[in-house]
Amino acid sequence: MANNYDSIAGIYDILGGLVFGKALQRSQSGLLKWIPPKSRILIVGGGTGWILERIAADHPAGLDIIYVEASAKMVALSRQRKTGENTVAFICLPIEEYTFTGLFDIVLTPYLFDNFLPEEAAHIFQLLHHALRPGGRWLFVDFCIDASQPKPWQKLLLRIMYIFFRVTCGVKAKNVVDITQHFKSVPYRLLQEKEYWSGFIKAYAYEKNL
Ligand SMILES: C[S@@+](CC[C@H](N)C(=O)[O-])C[C@H]1O[C@@H](n2cnc3c(N)ncnc32)[C@H](O)[C@@H]1O
Repeated sequence: MANNYDSIAGIYDILGGLVFGKALQRSQSGLLKWIPPKSRILIVGGGTGWILERIAADHPAGLDIIYVEASAKMVALSRQRKTGENTVAFICLPIEEYTFTGLFDIVLTPYLFDNFLPEEAAHIFQLLHHALRPGGRWLFVDFCIDASQPKPWQKLLLRIMYIFFRVTCGVKAKNVVDITQHFKSVPYRLLQEKEYWSGFIKAYAYEKNL
């Protein structure tokens, strides 16, 4: 199965920490201020679920979270998280197979899109775009290579990462898709853009206008 993170779920956070220190967490935590109280939130590809505890630290109650994660082992780890009095529905499915009900105030996609080929990413972007209510916010973070001035060390590291994730998780993608192009093709307003790791990681908060 493609994109099956079961085999590395137990060590994912440790591995990420060894390579990136706290940058993977900081890049996501820095976006959470855009979550208003009482939001209905869709988290896609939340991994081991540490983000749920981080969100609960800011919002101990009142959130309605739908957590869609393809890996059964990642979902099992996420279920053990302390989520305060927020309601969390854990859905173990690829997002492409999820039946959307109602609109969301917030969509959070942390390091999700780097898993997909361009046509798959475009399809998932459209699914999530239609699931977000007008005025809702999309919090997005991923790896990034500046196409105009690619840094050799970033290209090398990304290549090694893709080989690792192809062998361990069956990830077919070989490059990160530039999702910011999709945000430009539809009415989104950029609220925040922040770089980490010399621009190798970029975090964005967008607001849907219509
Ligand atoms: C690179 S990991 C990032 C995990 C987490 N967001 C973090 O930063 O620690 C990607 C996650 O997306 C999940 N995933 C991959 N494809 C998916 C899909 N089609 N639908 C939902 N989740 C998916 C994987 O199982 C994995 O947990």
